[in-house]
Amino acid sequence: MVILDGKKVSNDIKEEIAKDVAQIVSNGEKVPHLAAILVGTDGASMTYVNAKVKACERIGFNSTLIDLPEETSEEVLLDHIQNLNSNKDIDGFIVQLPLPKHIDEQKVLMAVNPDKDVDGFHPTNVGRMALDLPCFLPATPYGILELLERYSVETSGKNVVVMGRSHIVGRPMSILMSQKRKAGDATVTVVHSRTKNLAEITKKADIIVAAIGISEFLTGDMVKDGVVIIDVGITRIPDDTKKNGYRLAGDVHFESVSPKASFITPVPGGVGPMTIAMLLKNTLLARERHVM
Ligand code: GUN
Repeated sequence: MVILDGKKVSNDIKEEIAKDVAQIVSNGEKVPHLAAILVGTDGASMTYVNAKVKACERIGFNSTLIDLPEETSEEVLLDHIQNLNSNKDIDGFIVQLPLPKHIDEQKVLMAVNPDKDVDGFHPTNVGRMALDLPCFLPATPYGILELLERYSVETSGKNVVVMGRSHIVGRPMSILMSQKRKAGDATVTVVHSRTKNLAEITKKADIIVAAIGISEFLTGDMVKDGVVIIDVGITRIPDDTKKNGYRLAGDVHFESVSPKASFITPVPGGVGPMTIAMLLKNTLLARERHVM
C-alpha cells in the first residue's frame, strides 16, 4: 500500500512555483497577487483562508485578505468583488464558501471576472472545463489529478466511482476523469445520497474519490482489493485523548480500507494541501495571462 503524500507533493509544487516567482522578481516583473474574501467567522473557512494566505507569503506571492463580518449585505460583497475585478494589481481572487444564508452564492460567483476566477467556479470556467477548453480548473479536482499523475496511477479504462455530486468536487471530478487526459480516460460512475446498492457499485471500483462529507462512511467491506482511494473529506471528531479535543477524519474509514488499497490519501496530509498548491498554480497562470 502506497500513501499518496499530498503534503510532500504540494511542497514540491510550491517549490516549483517559488522558483518561477524568483525568476519573475529577478526580471523586475510584477509578482503574482491573490486576494481572498471571507465573510463571517466559520471556523473551518477561517482556517482554510489563513492557510491560503500563509502559502502565498511562503512562496513569494502578494496576498490580500478581505475579512468581512457575518452580517455583510450581498450588495456590499458584490461591491468588493467589482473592486477586485477592476484592480489591475490583483491577478486572481476567491470568495471562500460557504457564504452566510442571506447571500445568493450563485449571484456572487457569477460576479467574479472569469479571468480572475482562480477557483474555477464561474459558469464560464465550468463550461470551458466541460468542453476541454483552456480554463481555471477547480483547485481540489485539479490537485487530485496532479496527485494521480505524479504517482503514475493508471486511470485509463479504469472504473472510477466518484462519491458526491457537489459543484466544487464531485461534479467536476466526474467530468475531468472521463475526459481524454493524462489522469483521465476512465469510466466514471457518480454515486450520491439517492443511489441504491451503493456498496455493490463501490466494490467494483478501481478508483474511488470519496467526497460526500460523511466522516468514515466508506468502510473496508465496501471496496475490493487493490483499490485506489482518494479521500476528500475532512471532519473534526471529538476525541478526549487529543490535546485540542478532536481528531481529523476523512470520508474513508482508513483503518479498514487501507489494508485493501494499492494507493490511499491520508487525512490530513492528502488532498487538502494539494488544493492550496493548485490555487497558487492557478494564480500564477492568471498572472501570465494578464501580462501577455
Ligand atoms: N470551500 C470549500 N472548498 C473551497 C474552495 O476550494 N474554494 C472556496 N472558495 N471555498 C471553498
